[in-house]
Amino acid sequence: MWAVETRELTRTFGAFTAVDRVSLKIRQGGIYGFLGPNGSGKSTTIRMLCGIIEPSAGSGQVMGLDIVGQSEQIKAQIGYMSQKFSLYDDLTVRENLEFYAGLYSLPTSMKNERIAEMIRMAGLTGRENELTANLSGGWKQRLALGSSILHRPQILFLDEPTGGVDPKSRRMFWGIIYDLAAAGTTVMVTTHFMDEAEHCDEIGFIFEGRLIASDTPSGLKKSIPGRLLQISSADPLGLMAEIARQGLPMLDAYAQGAAVHLRVAEMDLDKYEKLQGKLIQPSLEDVFVHFVKQKRQEVAA
Ligand SMILES: Nc1ncnc2c1ncn2[C@@H]1O[C@H](COP(=O)(O)OP(=O)(O)OP(=O)(O)O)[C@@H](O)[C@H]1O
Ligand SMILES: [Mg+2]
Repeated sequence: MWAVETRELTRTFGAFTAVDRVSLKIRQGGIYGFLGPNGSGKSTTIRMLCGIIEPSAGSGQVMGLDIVGQSEQIKAQIGYMSQKFSLYDDLTVRENLEFYAGLYSLPTSMKNERIAEMIRMAGLTGRENELTANLSGGWKQRLALGSSILHRPQILFLDEPTGGVDPKSRRMFWGIIYDLAAAGTTVMVTTHFMDEAEHCDEIGFIFEGRLIASDTPSGLKKSIPGRLLQISSADPLGLMAEIARQGLPMLDAYAQGAAVHLRVAEMDLDKYEKLQGKLIQPSLEDVFVHFVKQKRQEVAA
């Protein structure tokens, strides 16, 4: 059984299609990164999977349960951390956890033990009685995570959990995510950060509502045709124009920071010797550029 399986999952808002025929399969017990630019449909997809909003068309299952007909059972079995953490600022750390323990109907015998476990996990020991409003971003985020996994869900949906927090908190948060996944929890996480995506077992790229690629990070990198040359330059756009003027053969060229990335067929590499480029392994950023352009060409064709 797949942890998540969707077929042509679609959601429209009026005439606008936010999620467009997304078919994906997520294995149990791994970390699936859901990557895409602002407004590409990540949150809308997650909200359909969690049974918060209904699809306009298509279907899906979470742990074998139908996202439309069995959304109540799904809600009881999953953990969900929304982009805006749902914490009560005027409750203390412990009170927030108690509130969620009640929401998940944890028996009293289990409740205190789980709350203590979450406080430890979040590094909040000693701060149990502090008002949540006084916690800074990283702490709040770990408290929100603790609140969403009190009932030990088999699958956890995290919607941009590390937006707006400092790098140290991000690392700490990911440490917890790895531990959860190692213990068998399936995690689906949306992110803008390419470095976070690198650490996922599988990645789905969503763009303008369409799932344009889904594979392991190394599988995605291998799928780009040609070799990647990096040529440093203070003026990448000028260098690109110069390469175009010389008519050098290439599959693609784009500026990336203070460099030009060129995708070149193996047999044409020798034509670039003079430009002193460096052969590099593609990053997920390069992969994303490739798939987005490919998609654009398909649409234009
Ligand atoms: N309730 C709604 N009514 C109308 N349009 C909506 C609604 N929810 C989302 N949208 C639109 O659907 C598109 C996808 O939104 P969604 O929130 O899923 O994107 P996202 O990938 O999560 O973006 P971000 O990275 O900014 O969180 C956006 O254009 C958004 O404006
Ligand atoms: Mg979102």
